[in-house]
Amino acid sequence: MLWRPGQIELRCELIDVLGKLGRERVIAAECEELLKLVHNHPGVLLQVALAFEESDQIDASLMALRRLIALQPDHFDALQHLRRLQTKRIPPWHFAMMNDEPRNRAYEAALRRAVTPDTHVFEIGTGSSILSMMAARAGAARVTTCEANTQIAAVAQQIVKDNGYDDIITVIPRPSWKIDVEKDLGGKADLFVAEILSDTLLDEGILRITDQARCDLLKPGAQLIPHGVSAMACLVGGEALASTTKVTEAAGFNLSAFNRYIPASLSINSDSRELLTLSDDIEVFRFDLDQELPKPEQRDITCQAREDGLCIGVLQWVRLYMDEETIFENRPADRFAPSAWRQRLFPFAEPITVKKGEQVDFRASHNIASLAFDRRVV
Ligand SMILES: C[S@@+](CC[C@H](N)C(=O)[O-])C[C@H]1O[C@@H](n2cnc3c(N)ncnc32)[C@H](O)[C@@H]1O
Repeated sequence: MLWRPGQIELRCELIDVLGKLGRERVIAAECEELLKLVHNHPGVLLQVALAFEESDQIDASLMALRRLIALQPDHFDALQHLRRLQTKRIPPWHFAMMNDEPRNRAYEAALRRAVTPDTHVFEIGTGSSILSMMAARAGAARVTTCEANTQIAAVAQQIVKDNGYDDIITVIPRPSWKIDVEKDLGGKADLFVAEILSDTLLDEGILRITDQARCDLLKPGAQLIPHGVSAMACLVGGEALASTTKVTEAAGFNLSAFNRYIPASLSINSDSRELLTLSDDIEVFRFDLDQELPKPEQRDITCQAREDGLCIGVLQWVRLYMDEETIFENRPADRFAPSAWRQRLFPFAEPITVKKGEQVDFRASHNIASLAFDRRVV
């Protein structure tokens, strides 16, 4: 088929507009038409892929790149674009998470204690399927797991098969809120496991997602792993940390006007920065996942400075109550192993100088989906 100049741009624009209107099916048909027009023109396919990417049509862009790679399997640019787009779909932290041995051990220990030969385990967010396979290895009768990302679900299905658990584990390529308790689970499950926890605890939606599962997909009183999660925090400071959140003078210039953009929070690796811990650990919010969904909350915290120093803000990390025996946390101090979860720094709008023994106040809040910490405005 011949293509005329302008035709491709027009179709790309149309796809962009349809995308904004949320017309997925029409977009898919339009993409097919467009790709038919340019199917044997590698240069144009690359342009089309880039145009799709620019208008945030990632599936369409992937489709164009795959066509191009089918034509020219060693097309360097197409292969690199494909990897870049796939990284948008499959976040790189999956690898550190799968290799996080302390985290894996904590989950496996709790699963081994909870699973019996009659247990039907339900998991949300299978990723590589590692937790489901742990449940199967612990002897569960069956395991049903779901995954919202269809590409990840496909690889999970392959991994389950590669490890010989495909007779026990069913991977459903759908988000948890689209699971039908009868059709998909064959009735409510006995045991729940999930790791849908971000560095900042709540941002992956653990509270709402678990609450829906508890109400609709689990037997009354079913055990949850973890059954509780907490936002842990302490005051931190030090010059090294200050340089990541604040600017005064650099190269002889006064740059302090930039401080109006001090971030609300940022992830840090406590082992890569010199951290000055200025208070004891504080369990700021504890959420019991086997109880009703909590309400948003604001809490005023008063703690005591452990030593003199420049306090930059609040450092937050996660604590998981796996079961009665096992607690996991990525505490910044050295008595816990480093983890794929990073600690999150919530810098104060203005650092404060603190003296040992002095009382320091800050405010913490959550709105079910995210956390915030800052100095209290009095
Ligand atoms: C942090 S990863 C954990 C993966 C794996 N369970 C593990 O422990 O290594 C969370 C996964 O859950 C998926 N996910 C998040 N919310 C989901 C939901 N409501 N339903 C299904 N999958 C979900 C994400 O796509 C992601 O792959």
